Amino acid sequence: MEKPTVQNSIKFKILGIILFCLFLITAVLGNLSFQFSKARIVMMLGDSIKNISNTIVAVTPPEVIAFILENSENIRRDDSSPSGGEFDLFNSSSKDPKLAYEKYSTLLRSIKMINNIDSSINIYVASKNRLLMVVTSDPVFLTGTAYEMRPVIKEALSSGLAQVTGIYKDKDGMWLSAYAPGGFLPSKSRRVIVEVNYKIDSYLDVLREELAAIIIICLVGFLIVAFISYQLVTALVSAIQKLSEAVRDLETEHYDKPIDVRANDEIGHLAKAFELLRRSIRRKIEELQISLTREKKAHLESVVALTNAIEERDSYTKEHVSRVQEYALLIAKSMHLPHDKILQLRYSCFLHDIGKIYIDSSLLKKGNLTPEDFEEIKKHSQRGAKIIEGIDFLTEVKDVVLYHQERYDGTGYPMGLKGEQIPLLARIVAVADAFDAMTTDRPYRPKKSFKEAIAEIEKNAGTQFDPEVCAAFLKYKDVLEGMMYKRPTDEVQ
Ligand SMILES: [Fe+2]
Repeated sequence: MEKPTVQNSIKFKILGIILFCLFLITAVLGNLSFQFSKARIVMMLGDSIKNISNTIVAVTPPEVIAFILENSENIRRDDSSPSGGEFDLFNSSSKDPKLAYEKYSTLLRSIKMINNIDSSINIYVASKNRLLMVVTSDPVFLTGTAYEMRPVIKEALSSGLAQVTGIYKDKDGMWLSAYAPGGFLPSKSRRVIVEVNYKIDSYLDVLREELAAIIIICLVGFLIVAFISYQLVTALVSAIQKLSEAVRDLETEHYDKPIDVRANDEIGHLAKAFELLRRSIRRKIEELQISLTREKKAHLESVVALTNAIEERDSYTKEHVSRVQEYALLIAKSMHLPHDKILQLRYSCFLHDIGKIYIDSSLLKKGNLTPEDFEEIKKHSQRGAKIIEGIDFLTEVKDVVLYHQERYDGTGYPMGLKGEQIPLLARIVAVADAFDAMTTDRPYRPKKSFKEAIAEIEKNAGTQFDPEVCAAFLKYKDVLEGMMYKRPTDEVQ
């Protein structure tokens, strides 16, 4: 089971999702809050400046505006102060245009001051496609100056109702403007338009400060939530990791380590269930091991009993099978055979000559064997297989007993099997059996020296014997030579 990488870790996935959600919520809420506040300001200020513009329209008779516009050149040229006296705002028959201009300009400045407006209020006259400035609250004289007709002004003129622009920007800042249509001039083709401008930078600054405060509060919340989430997720992931390790232990057949997850939640309950499962598996395995040990012991005792039966007939055979087992185990070690195969190989070595129990003991000790004698002896492999046929734990061993006299090149007996048709364990026993037969005195021939026996194995690798098994055997040549020296009754020649 692979360990999860940082990218795959559930901890970082959950934290990532939480942080992403928090970021998204902050961004959306912050932006919505800013947009709603802006819209509210536009609505409130827009209504306010619309009312102001409508009020100015109410106190601005078109005749007076026409009078000021018609006399704009005179007003510009006349550097003297107004003639004094009262100018009636609603009566254009007071024939002092400069006084009229000053009165209206002063009126607009007063309205600015009362309403706390720090930008200009202007009165225009609108013809079809252009605006002509008449009076402004600013201390400049712009009467008669032409301006572009904005769409919002056209809308005010066509609807007859005051209109407000959206927020717009110029080099001096952010603005909101209202335009209220007034009465028609005597010529009827032109109409008064009152413009109230309102600079809203200060309001937007307040909004930005509010947004910054919201973001800071959200960021602090972010950190707190991230910290709490990290703690919770770390505890959760730690419990999951412990469970994962426990499963890995069970998977690799390590049942002794207790699962230590102290949590009272779903993970804790799952861990307790795993712990019960682990204990149950361990108990079953212990029972199984005891049972297997008993079974193996019984098997070995059966094999030994069978071997003892041979010994009664032929004392040579018992020592022979013991030595064959030693040689075969060296080959098994060299070939890295698994434990269960090694056990089967041991049984095979003990029992490979069990069939000789049916051969007359005088024949086994006879010096000069006739071809008929050999034919009789050759039957031992089949007879041996017959003896252990039907014994469950010796099923594989039966084939080894049956085929241990087969030759790699197909010229052996009883079936003439070839190469890998012969079971591996039988090919191993064949080499070990032949080596021991060569290095011990037999009634029908004297033993060979160690070197001669080794040379014989090398010579017959690939013909009589499996070359891979021979190579595995010869890897332990030095060990084999040592074993020869330790034999109590034989000498190495
Ligand atoms: Fe043998």
